[in-house]
Amino acid sequence: MQPRRRDQSAGRLSVDEHRASTGRAMVVGPYLKLQKINVGSHAARSPQARIEEAIGLAVAIDLDVVETGIVTLNEIRPATYIGKGKVEEIAGLVKANEIGLVVMDCALSPVQQRNLEKAWSAKVLDRTGLILEIFGKRAQTKEGVLQVELAHLTYQKSRLVRSWTHLERQRGGFGFLGGPGETQIEADRRVIEERIARIEAELEKVKKRRKLHRDSRARVPYPIAALVGYTNAGKSTLFNRMTRAKVLEADMLFATLDPTLRSIDLPHGTRVILSDTVGFISELPTMLVAAFRATLEEVTEADVILHVRDISHQDSEAQMQDVQDVLKALGIDEARRGRVIEVWNKIDALDAQARAQVENMAARVAPDHQPLLVSALTGEGIDALLAAVEDRLAETRIVIDLEIDGADGAGLSWLHRNTEVIAKTIRDDGKVLLSVRADPTKAGQVRARFTGAIPVS
Ligand code: GTP
Repeated sequence: MQPRRRDQSAGRLSVDEHRASTGRAMVVGPYLKLQKINVGSHAARSPQARIEEAIGLAVAIDLDVVETGIVTLNEIRPATYIGKGKVEEIAGLVKANEIGLVVMDCALSPVQQRNLEKAWSAKVLDRTGLILEIFGKRAQTKEGVLQVELAHLTYQKSRLVRSWTHLERQRGGFGFLGGPGETQIEADRRVIEERIARIEAELEKVKKRRKLHRDSRARVPYPIAALVGYTNAGKSTLFNRMTRAKVLEADMLFATLDPTLRSIDLPHGTRVILSDTVGFISELPTMLVAAFRATLEEVTEADVILHVRDISHQDSEAQMQDVQDVLKALGIDEARRGRVIEVWNKIDALDAQARAQVENMAARVAPDHQPLLVSALTGEGIDALLAAVEDRLAETRIVIDLEIDGADGAGLSWLHRNTEVIAKTIRDDGKVLLSVRADPTKAGQVRARFTGAIPVS
């Protein structure tokens, strides 16, 4: 292993954030030799890219990362995941650098975690634990918070073993671990189970309320465009660029856990609701899938999905695959791919040669799936993107001209609630001429309700 000392001054935390840091940490990337793993899986990425991602995640929960190191493994040891020599080497680094927490970028069994904690006299957090901490920190909506808390408790329950008590002292020192349920660490399984039951009941209530909200939003006649993409792909930056609004944005992973909605007007006047979502990540812990999905409901209902990719990232292809897998799991499969527009972001970060390559790659994609090349940072390509969203929406939305009686107040208000009214003229004879735009289902209802309605596109 070649440990690297991280230059504090080059760190991405501000002074205040440094002060808020809750512990000196080391990030270890224990990765299997490449030939031992399936190509195409997350594990097939370069060790350097993997550990960089893990460091990014650690920084996102305000850890002060003072050491990092990659351990190349021939095999996984049942007791400690990594070999004895490495365990000892890291023990030395932990002691010398007064490290209180070691992040292992892998999934550890409770036994492995316990053994490593004992060997290092430090808290050990595996990838699942790390992502749980991040989700806990970023959850904003009531449902998000509850889902994360539930996931946290389930994770803890599976790890609640007697010999943890030997670490109570060290563990108590880390503020950041005081997240949902962490105070229950000394508590017994029964207490945790009671808490889980309470949260599940509360979640049911929140879900019902959420459905009511969704139903009322469904009456908003504007189409929805959802931004999805791998963590750090630039979604929040693009969202800002497109809406020119300020939302939480940071050079940090998972700057957003809950969808943010804004309405924007496209070049030809189509109003659309833009929705920013949480970043995707590979190897999402199964217990977090529900929480993650709750944040992605907007996506399943979206009229257009903008899949934002960091085209300058060396793992761009693998990241795209991860996102597509999740979209598929959400029921957005090949048949409905027409809704997806690929946005290749960060083209400003490419040198001339790489840029030419990317442009060639884009040119080879079938015309109806052409990716849009943009830079959310400089604004390049954004106008073309907005126009593409409008074109795509126009393909699915139908414009209908109709004439109704001015006295039909109920009919008029129904149209305002259920369609997008794009033009309205009141004639001298009291008749109202309207042009409305609606999705196919609503268009059917318009024709059924107002005889004489004429579809024009
Ligand atoms: P998550 O919230 O983690 O899902 O990230 P995100 O996809 O919302 O990414 P975000 O917008 O926070 O951007 C991540 C980093 O990429 C930030 O440092 C941005 O400044 C940077 N970034 C975003 N767009 C561009 C771009 O077009 N070019 C360059 N060079 N950097 C960009």
